[in-house]
Amino acid sequence: MGREKWSSTTGFILASIGSAVGIGNIWRFPYIVGSNGGGAFLIPYLISVFLFGLPLMVLEFAIGRRTGTSVVAAFQSIRKRFSVAGFAVVAIVSLILSYYLVITSWVLAYACFFTFGRPMEFGAFTDSYLPLAFFLLSGLAVFATVRSGVREGIEKVARYLIPILVVILLVLVAFSLTEPGAPDGIRFYLSPDYSTLADPAVWTAAFGQAFFSLSVGMGVMLTYGSYLEKGNLFRSASVIAVADMLIAILAGFMIFPLVFTAGLDPAAGVNLAFVTLPSVFTEIRFGMVLGALFFAMLFAAALTSAVSMLEVPVATVMDSYGYPRRRATLLVFAVIMLLGLPSALSYTALELDLFGIPFLDLSDYVFGTVGLIVAGLIMSIVGGWFMDRARICGEIGGCGWQQRVYMVLIRYCVPAVLLITLVGSFLRVAG
Ligand code: TRP
Repeated sequence: MGREKWSSTTGFILASIGSAVGIGNIWRFPYIVGSNGGGAFLIPYLISVFLFGLPLMVLEFAIGRRTGTSVVAAFQSIRKRFSVAGFAVVAIVSLILSYYLVITSWVLAYACFFTFGRPMEFGAFTDSYLPLAFFLLSGLAVFATVRSGVREGIEKVARYLIPILVVILLVLVAFSLTEPGAPDGIRFYLSPDYSTLADPAVWTAAFGQAFFSLSVGMGVMLTYGSYLEKGNLFRSASVIAVADMLIAILAGFMIFPLVFTAGLDPAAGVNLAFVTLPSVFTEIRFGMVLGALFFAMLFAAALTSAVSMLEVPVATVMDSYGYPRRRATLLVFAVIMLLGLPSALSYTALELDLFGIPFLDLSDYVFGTVGLIVAGLIMSIVGGWFMDRARICGEIGGCGWQQRVYMVLIRYCVPAVLLITLVGSFLRVAG
């Protein structure tokens, strides 16, 4: 049987947008903008996305399409001994998935709570064993999607969920902008403070957010590219990057007006989504409906991202060990659920932690921040330095000056920026 392919370029682009648009766009990006110089932050962010994130995405697509296989086998076909590096990338993305799924399951839980009009306080929720039930439930949703295959699972889910997500987002933005807190919210979100551009930490925050948000450097895009036949990779990657950025920017236009309307302080990360926003929704008019819509949208975003992460190890087990898809999915799913268990339990009454840090937060730092950068480095070095140049050129439309500029970006700029981000992430912890 030949390798499965996307049904069309549109299907491929939608699935990739599904991967890119995730929790990172909706709750992480707006907050990072608000606390790193507002509108001014868009400058380093745009630079990061188009100069560094996008080239890495194109490289991954090119490796995937050229080798027609997933991470480990692709690396192996570049140099035999690189399979180890491939396994490292697969391990990192699997570990990221193990805790990303925990957050996805909380989102699902809150979507259900608001749909039934009974929001639960976050502490009460995590103290119960309800999170475990939802962990299993959302794991099963991701599992079922990947098990159905590239066209019938991954592509189909994205074709339905991405348009729904965009419609919900537009409805929520339209509503938020008519609320009394809108002017203050937008002032907090976007008032530019250009002095922050002199702060290196702002730049590393922009780099990190761009790589995370575009899902690049982790083999996701390589694997998706391996199901691709033809088409201009730069064009597809640009559509994906622009869509990813627009959705992130729009998310801020819905979040901050609501937070300021309820007279609350904008919080960071987990607290913004599960503490601040739920209390916003219990206070404002139509709150239950808005809450249900918001968490349904967030679940759609998280599900399509989790699916893309699961596809990386699943495709690896299929390509490198010859397992059929169903058996590969079951095996990987079981491993991921076990790996995720400590994170899933870390906020419950059991309070699993290591060195006093909840497992989930620790995973987010070790795998989602440091691991992500390390994997990106591996990807850019293996692809940029060791893959035959002629083969890359063949995938990106020739060897003209544009391609030469591109190679400089991939070989020198992207690894340099990743190294700087790595140092920045260590300093943030030390500081
Ligand atoms: N991009 C997604 C988000 O913004 C997260 C994500 C999906 C991801 N796949 C990834 C991050 C692979 C790193 C690697 O939420």
